[in-house]
Amino acid sequence: MDDIKYSNTHHQHEHSRTNYDDQLDYGTPASQSDVQVTLMIDDREITVPEGTSIMRASIMAGINVPKLCATDSLEAFGSCRLCVVEIEGRRGYPASCTTPVAEGLKVHTQTPKLADIRRGTMELYISDHPLDCLTCATNGDCELQDMAGAVGLREVRYGYEGENHLKAEKDESNPYFTFDPSKCIVCSRCVRACEETQGTYALTISGRGFESKVASGINNFLDSECVSCGACVQACPTATLIEKTVIEHGVPEHSVTTTCAYCGVGCSFDAEMKGEEVVRMVPNKNGGANHGHSCVKGRFAWGYATHKDRITTPMIRKSITDPWQVVGWDEAVNYAASEIKRIEAKYGKHAMGGITSSRCTNEEVYVTQKLVRAVFGTNNVDTCARVCHSPTGYGLKQTLGESAGTQTFDSVMKSDVILIIGANPTDGHPVFASQMKRRLREGAKLIIADPREIDLVKNSPHVHADYHLNLRPGTNVALISALAHVVVTEGLVKEDFVKARCEWDSFVAWRDFVAKPENSPEALADELGVDPAIVRASARMFATGGNGAIYYGLGVTEHSQGSTMVMGIANLAMATGNVGREGVGVNPLRGQNNVQGSCDMGSMPHEYPGYRHVSDEATRALFESAWGRPLSNEPGLRIPNMLDQASEGSFKALYCVGEDIAQSDPNTKHVTHALEQMECVIVQDLFLNETAMYAHVFFPGASFLEKSGTFTNAERRISPVRRVMNPKNGALVNGKQEAGYEDWEITAKLSKALGYEMNYHHASEIMDEIAALTPTFKGVSFKKLDELGSIQWPCNDEAPLGTPTMHIDEFVRGKGKFFITQYVPTTEKVNAKFPLILTTGRILSQYNVGAQTRRTKNVAWHSEDIVEIHPHDAEERGIKEGDWVGITSRAGETVLRVKITERVQPGVIYTTFHHPESGANVITTENSDWATNCPEFKVTAVQVTRVNQLSDWQQHYKTFSEAQLAFAGRDQEAAKIE
Ligand code: SF4
Ligand code: SF4
Ligand code: SF4
Ligand code: FES
Repeated sequence: MDDIKYSNTHHQHEHSRTNYDDQLDYGTPASQSDVQVTLMIDDREITVPEGTSIMRASIMAGINVPKLCATDSLEAFGSCRLCVVEIEGRRGYPASCTTPVAEGLKVHTQTPKLADIRRGTMELYISDHPLDCLTCATNGDCELQDMAGAVGLREVRYGYEGENHLKAEKDESNPYFTFDPSKCIVCSRCVRACEETQGTYALTISGRGFESKVASGINNFLDSECVSCGACVQACPTATLIEKTVIEHGVPEHSVTTTCAYCGVGCSFDAEMKGEEVVRMVPNKNGGANHGHSCVKGRFAWGYATHKDRITTPMIRKSITDPWQVVGWDEAVNYAASEIKRIEAKYGKHAMGGITSSRCTNEEVYVTQKLVRAVFGTNNVDTCARVCHSPTGYGLKQTLGESAGTQTFDSVMKSDVILIIGANPTDGHPVFASQMKRRLREGAKLIIADPREIDLVKNSPHVHADYHLNLRPGTNVALISALAHVVVTEGLVKEDFVKARCEWDSFVAWRDFVAKPENSPEALADELGVDPAIVRASARMFATGGNGAIYYGLGVTEHSQGSTMVMGIANLAMATGNVGREGVGVNPLRGQNNVQGSCDMGSMPHEYPGYRHVSDEATRALFESAWGRPLSNEPGLRIPNMLDQASEGSFKALYCVGEDIAQSDPNTKHVTHALEQMECVIVQDLFLNETAMYAHVFFPGASFLEKSGTFTNAERRISPVRRVMNPKNGALVNGKQEAGYEDWEITAKLSKALGYEMNYHHASEIMDEIAALTPTFKGVSFKKLDELGSIQWPCNDEAPLGTPTMHIDEFVRGKGKFFITQYVPTTEKVNAKFPLILTTGRILSQYNVGAQTRRTKNVAWHSEDIVEIHPHDAEERGIKEGDWVGITSRAGETVLRVKITERVQPGVIYTTFHHPESGANVITTENSDWATNCPEFKVTAVQVTRVNQLSDWQQHYKTFSEAQLAFAGRDQEAAKIE
């Protein structure tokens, strides 16, 4: 295809590497047909799948057909008429984008007549377009400009003196992109991208003929329904919709493919660069998880990486009441090592531990747990998955045999019934939500189990839930029993599947259990607060509606019965035969980018990489021989145990990488008390986060743009993270700038200072070690990732290209196992003092503790956490919209502003937890999942009252954090958003 001249200019940039990374725009989407058709285009014979457009076939044959309104991420539209062709035996000049191939066709794409038509069309476009190409921000990256050249347009006969749109006003309201209607050619690619790719329907073409123009909502982009996904900007062939960073910095010069550092969808992006500066992040159309789509976070919210709050030099101090001392890397590392040695000598090795994060790469997690196990000499290592998806790991391992989701995201396109439990995909997993909405618009059925009316219930255009099971928080297990009861008692079990694939005895025991009258929807109606008829109808729909897929989130796991519920979900999927093929499955939607990976890499205290127990002799011997150190066979402490022991005075040193336990773990006062009791807290992070305010050593981390490694998303997809710029964390020593380090290098430096050399020269060598020691990763290497783009584990001799769908012929554990899931109501009960239930969740524009997104322009959409309350509950308390309210639980109190809405049911309030001063976790309790200690974040009994001042905790927090920022040479101003 070397002779292609007129293609989407993105591919003309120099890519760091790529053979999978074909960015060519084929004009129309690929056909999925198995039937092949052969035709002649100009002088070339080509065979393509039936249903392929002539345009796509031409481009595949290396023949360029000019186009403007077509792009291969959207269905053909046929409006610009630039792509006309001649077909022998047919009259007229059909548009090649809307005309499908047919056997034996003879197509001509370049004739004098076609050239005339195309020139005439272009002339009309250009006559109403500002000819400021030389000064236009997208000069050299504009399809209109390319096409003018391609059709040989040399002169424009129609002057500018007639009516035109050249003075149309710009819309600059969106923080990240500009809409300049004077440059719009009304090709409607943006409108279609918003509909087809994103599913938001924020744009329309209003008016007709000359008057037609793109319109966004009532006023402008910011006030419209637009969710800033960037799909329209990506699709726009002109400079009409364009990133403000491109206007500021100019067209990028080169690009590097990497992976989003936010959520568990794991979108692939091309970081488009000018020198060492990112100009924009463009979603990679060959990304296995995102296919060229993005959300506002990955696409636009990367400015935190260079935010002035970022700390880029190591710091140490003796006590948390001392100011920080800025030091060089060697001094910081040696000080940390000496403290660890001192504490080990005084209190023993089990008084120390490490916490990794799902924001770290696989390689960073791996070296951190290796440091703790092999060098500290203890298994006291845990990860933030403890507080989110640890029940998924446990529940799926027990039932199916592997601690991971069963499907690819693409599998949803073959689902007939989608059951979402305790997840809010349009906010939490937006790119996957767009794909799911596409399938729903095609007609798949939707059942949502959630206490709150999430957008997919009825607030997404052309999508609505067939059933909304608005259960009371904390009653998930009762719901899964009631659904199973209907399946079992109404004869809807897929017995063939169960007989062939599952442990029959376990099935019989489960069947008899759920069939008990006390598990019927009617018996559980009061507990659930859901009409039993709706529960019955949902169960029937799921069991009989074709391919049934279950997607769930933290609304399942963050409960005292989180693990029980995960097993209940697996039971239901097995009983209805919905595991082991495309379109079905059990799919945990992971919150953070590398939740799956951090668990895979042995970050839990009882497991080595690959989920092998530390007491397993053979596995321990393998790691002892590879690492050359004796290893403990006793599971170490989980995060809550570390904190309890620290509070009691027996846990003294913590190495905390990329995780902010002081903000993200429950019962903040207990966490901070525990941190205060420790003698050496080492925090490795980008910012002086809440935990770092209690630290003695601060190692500045590298952002995802500054390092190489891999992330593993919710589909088990291992994707490359690639260094696009040098790490910015080089210390200034005696006026000399030291080199910066990737995070794994910092861990390796600490290890060396503790007397154990980790001899890696590059992150790829860490992955080689992981592959050598972990059967499910045996075939993974950076080289293969570069060749394939991404790999879904297991990847080994049996599956050298990875495994998109799991458990196809048999479950990983052999036979699937049913578990009895007895519903035990949470002990966190409402009473007269605490009559409401608080539940929590996330919103689209912010991300978890907000450390990254709060330092971007995303604050335009969510500058504070708000508590939602039902009108009845508000009225009873004399609360009005926008009032400050005190929220008091058994653990503590905080104050937030109120929003009155029927999205929450009476008796339930809801908030997000993206801002530290909100103190959402000051009120959450220490109740936790019986199997994994995952906190019961989703159920807290509270009272709400009107107040007019901050809570005691918030006032203390304000004073404390101001002092800590001053100790680091930052004032409160520096902490504010730019
Ligand atoms: S940014 Fe996304 S949601 Fe907003 S108008 Fe464009 S396509 Fe639609
Ligand atoms: S804004 Fe861009 S994509 Fe939308 S109609 Fe105008 S030129 Fe086409
Ligand atoms: S959906 Fe998730 S991975 Fe994709 S761009 Fe958004 S935050 Fe990043
Ligand atoms: S590209 Fe075919 S009509 Fe516009």
